[in-house]
Amino acid sequence: MTRADHLVLIGMMGAGKSTVGRLLAERRGQPFADTDDEIERRTGMSVAALFAERGEAGFRRIEAEVLADLLAAGRPAVLSCGGGVVTGAANREILGERATVVWLTAPVDVLARRVGDGRTRPLLGDDPEAALAALLDERRPCFEEVADHAVDTAGRTPATVADRVARAVG
Ligand code: S3P
Repeated sequence: MTRADHLVLIGMMGAGKSTVGRLLAERRGQPFADTDDEIERRTGMSVAALFAERGEAGFRRIEAEVLADLLAAGRPAVLSCGGGVVTGAANREILGERATVVWLTAPVDVLARRVGDGRTRPLLGDDPEAALAALLDERRPCFEEVADHAVDTAGRTPATVADRVARAVG
């Protein structure tokens, strides 16, 4: 499989990966998958419940399996990944091998506004903006390592972001 077969969206929580990914899949006539949705489908549990029962490490193990399986699919697809997928070295490696990876970016205050109170996102705690800032600091080198392109989403509609992504990947 060549690296350009799948188009994968990465980025922090609130970057708009799932919404933009669906639009892109529609336009490209390709299937769409979201790692969090697939994790929930396979386990029959919500992401929040998985974190609570198995801890972040347990969630990351399932996430890595799901990512590898989705990237192994023969038919080119558009995938959106949970924000923490880039923290796994093995995940970064297979993304580099099997996909064109686009990093959707936005300033932390914009991300925080989009995630709201962050109730369904276990890593955000009581102060989502501070948590997002800390996570972005930690993860920035991982995003930079794996991204082929970065697209700023601030002040743009999902349709416009999809246009920019389509233009970036050619
Ligand atoms: C996470 C992001 C979430 C989800 C989980 C952990 C993260 O996905 O995978 O709550 O570590 O950034 P989204 O980025 O789709 O919100």
